[in-house]
Amino acid sequence: MPVRSLCCGRALNLGLVSAPTEITEPVVTAAVDAALAAIESATDSAALKAVRSAHVGEASPLAALNALMRSVPGDQKAAAGKLVGQARARVTQAMNAREAQIVEAEATAQLAAETVDVTAAASTWRAGARHPLTLLQERVSDVFVGMGWEVAEGPELESEWFNFDALNFDEDHPARAMQDTFFIDPPEAHLVLRTHTSPVQMRALLGNEPPVYRISPGRVYRTDELDATHTPVFHQIEGIAVDKGLTMAHLRGTLDHFVKALFGEEAKVRLRPNYFPFTEPSAELDLWHPTFKDGARWIEWGGCGMVNANVLRSAGIDPEVYSGFAFGVGVERALMFRNDVKDMHDMVEGDVRFSQQYGMTV
Ligand code: DAH
Repeated sequence: MPVRSLCCGRALNLGLVSAPTEITEPVVTAAVDAALAAIESATDSAALKAVRSAHVGEASPLAALNALMRSVPGDQKAAAGKLVGQARARVTQAMNAREAQIVEAEATAQLAAETVDVTAAASTWRAGARHPLTLLQERVSDVFVGMGWEVAEGPELESEWFNFDALNFDEDHPARAMQDTFFIDPPEAHLVLRTHTSPVQMRALLGNEPPVYRISPGRVYRTDELDATHTPVFHQIEGIAVDKGLTMAHLRGTLDHFVKALFGEEAKVRLRPNYFPFTEPSAELDLWHPTFKDGARWIEWGGCGMVNANVLRSAGIDPEVYSGFAFGVGVERALMFRNDVKDMHDMVEGDVRFSQQYGMTV
């Protein structure tokens, strides 16, 4: 009588026949056929286990046939034994073959389920990086804030008056041409992309009663071609201090502290006489450090001087009462010799791998 059993949530036909009471070919064949059908119908290892216990286990018809061997008369033992032995061998063989199939099918299914598509594009999200020029400007600002200075930026689209006239450049001063300026249409608007950060000197003085101590980092523009050492867009840091009694000694002391804070205790500044229309006297600002990439040497870094009395007057400040000093330095140049950046292209291309090398501090 077929028995149905529930296995793994599915009805499994175990196909059991009633317990045999004699060893005859039809009885043995029925037991074998039932076992083979049940084995065939098992599709997973749990089902096969149930089939194994029903058809090969101790309570199986085949086990019962085996037990009947004891009561078989001696002259029939050999024939009956052969019949039962062959039956058991067939069923065992079918069971093993099915088991091998099921094990392989289950392993294949598991591998398929656990497959990782190594060709799929990674969906990792990478954090960007802050640009080292920005970090360096912030670091310089911090140094000056530490001395009680204010940080203020000026506009990059600047009036010609702030960029040149207010800084004591004559109408036909060669510096206007020398600085290779981007003039903005229409010409009568007299707008330029600022060629230096010095116009913030006048902006700091207009509308502010001295004392004024102001540092101003920012972008400037000149009509240079981009190459390893030039870029048409670059950065400067301008400083201006106007107070009673300021002298070149204050300028010198401030620059000394500045370069030591930025480049290390061994850094030194040197002022070489020069000419700028907006400072008098004016000086070239050189920087020395023992570990610069080509060895200890002086590097030209910017300009400085005492604020020209004409500039103070333009801002409505009495040069008999107040005096001031100013300086301007290049940020790209600082990054080049401080952090050994050899090519300006690295600074303008915006490759995050370049910026990431600096982390969050320069
Ligand atoms: N503005 C000048 C330049 O771009 C640099 C400079 C020179 C700034 C002397 C100053 C200064 O404040 O006093 O070449």
